[in-house]
Amino acid sequence: MPDESAQWLFVETVIRRVMADFCYKEIRTPIFEQTSLFARSIGELTDIVTKEMYTFVDRGEESITLRPEGTATTVRAYIQNNLAEQAPLSKVYYLGPMFRQERPQAGRLRQFHQFGAEAIGSVSPTLDVETILLPLEVYRQLGLTETTLKVNSVGCEKCRPKYKQLLKEELRKIQTKLSPESQARIQQNPLRVLDSKDERDQILTASIPLMKDHLCDECKEHFTSVQALLNRLSMKFEVDGRLVRGLDYYTKTAFEITSPQLGSQDALAGGGRYDLLVEELGGKQTPGVGFAAGIERILIALEKLGKVKSQEAGPMVFFVGLDEASREWAFMKCCELRGRGISAELDYLNRSVKAQMRQADRLRAKFVVVIGEQELKSRSAILKNMANGEETPVPFDRLDSVL
Ligand code: HAM
Repeated sequence: MPDESAQWLFVETVIRRVMADFCYKEIRTPIFEQTSLFARSIGELTDIVTKEMYTFVDRGEESITLRPEGTATTVRAYIQNNLAEQAPLSKVYYLGPMFRQERPQAGRLRQFHQFGAEAIGSVSPTLDVETILLPLEVYRQLGLTETTLKVNSVGCEKCRPKYKQLLKEELRKIQTKLSPESQARIQQNPLRVLDSKDERDQILTASIPLMKDHLCDECKEHFTSVQALLNRLSMKFEVDGRLVRGLDYYTKTAFEITSPQLGSQDALAGGGRYDLLVEELGGKQTPGVGFAAGIERILIALEKLGKVKSQEAGPMVFFVGLDEASREWAFMKCCELRGRGISAELDYLNRSVKAQMRQADRLRAKFVVVIGEQELKSRSAILKNMANGEETPVPFDRLDSVL
């Protein structure tokens, strides 16, 4: 709605400014892609792919899907447009609608909006930290400071299979006591058992081995560097060995940022490293790391804190016309001022002077000029400053220069 979009515009302006400060360039990817892209990247067995995608067969008998997230489309575009040849490192960001057929509730929508960034081409842990800092800087500038940052390492193709095997064996020992959902996950996706929302599952798996304690040397070193950098930046964070995320493409770092202002859907942002994804989608072996953050959730949290701001500027001047000729003059003047980049508005509904003044007030006009027969004759009018009530007589030919 128009009033809300002014709030969105404010948030989006902050996002774009922070992205520019961190030197990320915008990428605009398609809203729909071939279904196989998401199945291959997010993972065939994830909730997103098995239950939540808006998938259709188009008139060409091709299966297409409304994008449920931005990483897969960005990586697809990166490969297809040979971005690797243009620069060894691509830092891109996006902002736009995503679609997931989840059960709608506060902070969970079927069409929602994300902003996110991807840094493709480097294994440096500085980029893991940079993509964590990006959303946090946006939140800081918006006044959303009470956030919690959780980090974990989900290992790599060298250490994860061994750990998965160990985890499966441990889970099988308690299999019959676990929730049906977790039991079903043991075989295909045992890591997801760790972030089960079921309280009994949580108690039963309280002392289960965690990936972070079974990392290979390379992953261990990377995770240590990420934490050291966060510490050097005095960032508060928790290491959460149960953080596994709902997308399969992660390697090494995984992170999530939550807000106490949100209810059960408390994740403001999530992300991590995906060093195998470019290759899995047909590109050359190229590491990457990124994050995405929900915009609706930002606005919910800001609202709870009473910190919602709008980027709405009222018109510079509102003309109150007392008769037909004055209104016509006001319309001409408005057209002229608008052409010079000065926002101007008038009444189009032949309203009374009182109603026109109310309208000027509602629009938060900076100045009001009342035009009637006398003003047209003397080619001069009173300029009223709406902030302090000050009234200044101004000849018509000087109006532009005082606005
Ligand atoms: P994700 O955790 O699925 O990650 O989503 C990121 C954020 O999008 C969530 O933390 C949440 O704020 C918002 N979000 C997700 N689903 C909904 C929904 N149904 N309604 C409202 N907001 C929602 C990703 O999408 C990954 N692509 C992040 C990433 C980028 N990893 C690496 N690069």
